[in-house]
Amino acid sequence: MRDNGFPLPDDEKTLYGQFPKTFKWSTASAAYQIEGSWRAHGKGLSIWDKFAHTPLRVSNSDNADIACDSYNKIDKDVEVLKRLKVSHYRFSVSWPRVLPDGTNNHINEAGLNYYHRLLDALEAANIQPQVTLYHWDLPLALQKVGGWENETIVHRFRDYADVLFSRLGSRVKFWITLNEPYIVANLGYGYGTFAPGIVGKQYIAAHNLIKAHAEAWHLYNDKYRATQGGLISITINSDWVEPRSPYKQEDVDAAKRYLQVDRCKHQKSFPLPEFTPEEIKRINGTHDYFGFNHYTTVLSFPVDLGNQGTGTTHDRTWIESGSFWLKITPFGFRKILKFIKDEYGNPPVYVTENGISERGAVDLNDIHRTHYYENYINQALKAHVLDGVDLRGYTAWSLMDNFEWAAGYSERFGLFFVNRSNPTLPRIPKNSASRYASIITCNAHLL
Ligand code: NOJ
Repeated sequence: MRDNGFPLPDDEKTLYGQFPKTFKWSTASAAYQIEGSWRAHGKGLSIWDKFAHTPLRVSNSDNADIACDSYNKIDKDVEVLKRLKVSHYRFSVSWPRVLPDGTNNHINEAGLNYYHRLLDALEAANIQPQVTLYHWDLPLALQKVGGWENETIVHRFRDYADVLFSRLGSRVKFWITLNEPYIVANLGYGYGTFAPGIVGKQYIAAHNLIKAHAEAWHLYNDKYRATQGGLISITINSDWVEPRSPYKQEDVDAAKRYLQVDRCKHQKSFPLPEFTPEEIKRINGTHDYFGFNHYTTVLSFPVDLGNQGTGTTHDRTWIESGSFWLKITPFGFRKILKFIKDEYGNPPVYVTENGISERGAVDLNDIHRTHYYENYINQALKAHVLDGVDLRGYTAWSLMDNFEWAAGYSERFGLFFVNRSNPTLPRIPKNSASRYASIITCNAHLL
């Protein structure tokens, strides 16, 4: 029951069923969050290296200089991946590790070699890679000339993509250009709470992010697809939204606005860059699948800040996580997957992130996470079996506890606990890890 007196949707019953045999089960990480070795073997600095070394930006002044030390622990990481029985592993490449000054004037072979060794180990374990080109660690050298505000980044990103496609593409059949461009633009260049900490420039950043993605997709499509035959797309994030009160038309309207990508058209306070007709043509259709990160549901209500804004809140009965923005709301997962099907013409969907955090004392018996995965995956199964959503894969965020951006190490999303007080940073399974492995073995429902 919600606190406005409305019952939750009738979705409490477990569906006993399975995904198709070809379903891709994965877990994910990102370079800055796990690799460490921030200056090893010629790596350039990224905007997150700088941001995390700036006082008051990250909780407890944490940084990812060491993180999970994945740069030196390929074998350990692949060992735990094997225990999960995943068919796929999603990781990102650090742009400044490969191109220290952001341009392809100089390729750092030692940095690239790390990814080759990781791919070797994954291949030996029969785990397929899913590689994100950009998971937020922009080369600092590019930020010095404006970063995502400067249109030349579109070409820099294309050149970077070219290096990765040509050097890794024979081994990688699943690419993600950008991870959550909405967050990059809004938190990095709008509110300034994420690197590079810039305020009020979200629309120009968003504009260039979209163009950069499209150029990388076209490059792959024109130059590499015929020989490499992989899939390439972008990963976007969205919460599901319900009106705070279903009786109030203004709350219902606010919910509709929340789900519309063009809602920024209502914003009057910022100048909006317009795409030219040629750009629109070039951007249209630049996706091989719908890459989707989802965590939670919000309740909407209108706010009027000189424009038609949408405020969000949570129901106080929803179970909490270690992150203020994340409540356990599995019903919303099925609804938003159905929304994607209806709104975008039933595209093939890969869930590229889904998971939950905890904070405070360590409890390896992580019942909230176990509950979360069982219920969210069951809703995904319902979306597929009952609603006909063309769901092709599911990815748990995250493989192990890691650097959670501005929250540092205080919020832990891992299936594996990383004991930071032990210098060897051991990866220790939480109960959810074996539960997730069982779900994978059963290909969804648990008997
Ligand atoms: C989205 C991001 O892609 C990932 O890096 C982050 O750790 C998780 N969500 C949890 O906030």
